[in-house]
Amino acid sequence: MSRPAILVTREIFPEVIELLARHLDVEANQSDESWSREQLVAKLAGKAGALTTGSERIDAALLDAATRLRVCANMAVGYNNFDVPAMTARGVLATNTPDVLTDTTADLAFTLLMAAARRIGESERFLRAGQWQRWRYDMFAGAEVHGATLGILGMGRIGQGVAKRGALGFGMKVIYHNRSRLTAELEAECRAAYVSKEALLKEADHLVLVLPYSPESHHAIGAAELATMKPTATLVNIARGGIVDDAALAEALRDKRIAAAGLDVFEGEPQVHPGLLEVPNVILTPHIGSATVKTRMAMAKLAADNLIGFLVHGKPLTPLNPQVLKAA
Ligand code: GLV
Repeated sequence: MSRPAILVTREIFPEVIELLARHLDVEANQSDESWSREQLVAKLAGKAGALTTGSERIDAALLDAATRLRVCANMAVGYNNFDVPAMTARGVLATNTPDVLTDTTADLAFTLLMAAARRIGESERFLRAGQWQRWRYDMFAGAEVHGATLGILGMGRIGQGVAKRGALGFGMKVIYHNRSRLTAELEAECRAAYVSKEALLKEADHLVLVLPYSPESHHAIGAAELATMKPTATLVNIARGGIVDDAALAEALRDKRIAAAGLDVFEGEPQVHPGLLEVPNVILTPHIGSATVKTRMAMAKLAADNLIGFLVHGKPLTPLNPQVLKAA
């Protein structure tokens, strides 16, 4: 019997390609060529599945061209590159990689928070440039982290991980805002108090963004929101580009309307707003929230297991639109 054919759109761990190839006919982009949209559509012809990354847009037009496609497994927890309603309407299953990256990504949020608050980027550049001649009382004096108020916008699994790190590890007072309030049990577990978005912006010493990107969350933090934050505050975005108005943030950092920022995601990445590259008080990383070897391997394996689970056994592990399974 012929095996279902799949496409792996970007280079991934060879072990995971081998795992896939034990069950499926695999065409893999292990040379990591940058495919145009037309090339991607051509490659998907006749494929039943695709292992995608956040870089590939799976929308109605692509689905209409890829008529044999039955499943797309994103190697990411975020899936704003998927038009899930369009996939569901065409009976195409969507899967993502939740849980396996929660702690690793929460770790990076804290890394950026601490690096921004304690001015690590500026200090390191200063030292490397040979400018360290003598001690000064105020040299790179930043903001306190322990005991400060940690604000979290978006309180899913990663937000909860950030809250626990702040409350349990650093004795921080944790406040959060989310579309829906956590249960009392979860609030107690995270030692986090629910507040309005306005109160969050006003009261946080360090504000971490962990909400999914959608038209509703586009520019959730813009000039008006930045204006209500403390001038001593730090802002961390590990969620998605587009949630922050990067142009407004660059201005706020330049004018010291907030003290510092740590950013892992950008509007239009891999492009970065030139204003952000010019200001010293921002730490910039290239979307590495989940980037440890162990976690990236776990994500790749989960994406592969979703493809094998669905195409071979009819049982994906982490479906986003399980209604497709019922309809099948
Ligand atoms: C990374 O951004 C992810 O969504 O997994």
